[in-house]
Amino acid sequence: MKSVLIIDDDKLIRKSLSSHFRKNEFQVFSAADGESGISEFKENRPDLVLLDIRLPDVDGLEVLKKIKKENPRACIIIMTAFDDMKTTVEAVKSGAFEYLVKPLDYVELDLVIGKVYKVKSLEDKMSYLVGEKQKEYTIDNIIGSTPEMREVYKLIGSVANTRANVLIQGESGTGKELVAKAIHYNSRFRDEPFIVINCSALSDTLLESELFGHVKGAFTDAAHETKGKFEVAGKGTLFLDEIGDVSLNLQSKLLRVIENRDYMKVGGEKVLQTEARVIAATNHDLKERVEQGKFREDLYYRLKVVEINLPSLCQRKEDIPDLVAYLLEKINRELRKNVKKVPPGVMDFLVDFPWKGNVRELENALTRAVILAKGDVLLKENLPIEKSDKEIFPKQLVPLAEVEKKYIQHVLKQVKGNKSKASRILSISRPTLDKKISDYQIQI
Ligand SMILES: Nc1ncnc2c1ncn2[C@@H]1O[C@H](COP(=O)(O)OP(=O)(O)OP(=O)(O)O)[C@@H](O)[C@H]1O
Ligand SMILES: [Mg+2]
Repeated sequence: MKSVLIIDDDKLIRKSLSSHFRKNEFQVFSAADGESGISEFKENRPDLVLLDIRLPDVDGLEVLKKIKKENPRACIIIMTAFDDMKTTVEAVKSGAFEYLVKPLDYVELDLVIGKVYKVKSLEDKMSYLVGEKQKEYTIDNIIGSTPEMREVYKLIGSVANTRANVLIQGESGTGKELVAKAIHYNSRFRDEPFIVINCSALSDTLLESELFGHVKGAFTDAAHETKGKFEVAGKGTLFLDEIGDVSLNLQSKLLRVIENRDYMKVGGEKVLQTEARVIAATNHDLKERVEQGKFREDLYYRLKVVEINLPSLCQRKEDIPDLVAYLLEKINRELRKNVKKVPPGVMDFLVDFPWKGNVRELENALTRAVILAKGDVLLKENLPIEKSDKEIFPKQLVPLAEVEKKYIQHVLKQVKGNKSKASRILSISRPTLDKKISDYQIQI
């Protein structure tokens, strides 16, 4: 369902606009001043905002900027009481979609709204082509204040405006793509495409044609000529994810394009030039792969002109409370929920947990807990966490018999000494259980 938020201090205007939108099957939210307008926006995330530029409490322009900061893709239509070009120009420069002069002409309003939805659907289609145009990737969206993370911010800042190739290394879920986007969106080329290509998801042939494009008839299914990602990226960024998985054959083709900036389409003869900047990422130890002969050393050095190593979440446990707060807010916003309270015991648990899947695993765990939450408290029982090996197994390595003895004791305790139940659970016969109890001298 389409949705709109009307921010205007004039009650009559709110009323008449609300009924107009309701007739057009919109879900309508409204606010009489700037502050409540902003909080309505945060809570309900409407597609469209109609904003009076003259408000009793805050300047309408300020409201516009705050909403844009909250969601850069928010579609805001400004309403001005008179044809004040200065404010209007300012508003459009700050990202307003359109402006309408009061008293409103409803025919004009409907035309503008039609345009909004046309652009929106176009943007959705486009985003598949040009990658995400959202400029939400400021450094503020990367959470962490440990020295390792501060080093990462410094590198993002110093490398953003250069065209140097960057190699981002880190375990799965540590934020490699997030950092790549931050580099792109903090660069002069932020309006150019950011193109992601997952090198491990495609076969060798497909990957080659994705990267470089192919000419008509290059292979059986090549009915048309296609553009490769090196071409689509223009002056923007090509993010080569999972670069460690590229075959040696393709590695040599990548080396050529990275060294000389030229390449040929599959089946083509014309030499093409690319201006794209390359950021590569891997969760393998690329140096080790070089030593094993699985990755070309020359390509490795070409890619890692600047190297960013992301710490695992275990290496920066101090950041977990901030990450939990940030991720909860993000998840609440997306799911329109309001799970904000994290009891101290639950937070301690989250900090101690050995997040092998790093921030992604933490985010997934919190998402599930938010979905399952009934009230506004995050409950431990809703966290989909399997016991870590560390919790199951003792830290010190011990003989099998010792583990067996402890486990039998544990089961017996759980079933309150009921040996038939215990033998069923353990899938051993009752005499075997009796023998083990006596061998291990287990007291019941
Ligand atoms: N420091 C961080 N602050 C906030 N969010 C983060 C941070 N690091 C990662 N995330 C979030 O965690 C999720 C995973 O991050 P991302 O996709 O960038 O990781 P990745 O290293 O590319 O993972 P993979 O190797 O699995 O592809 C994303 O939703 C991202 O927004
Ligand atoms: Mg990734």
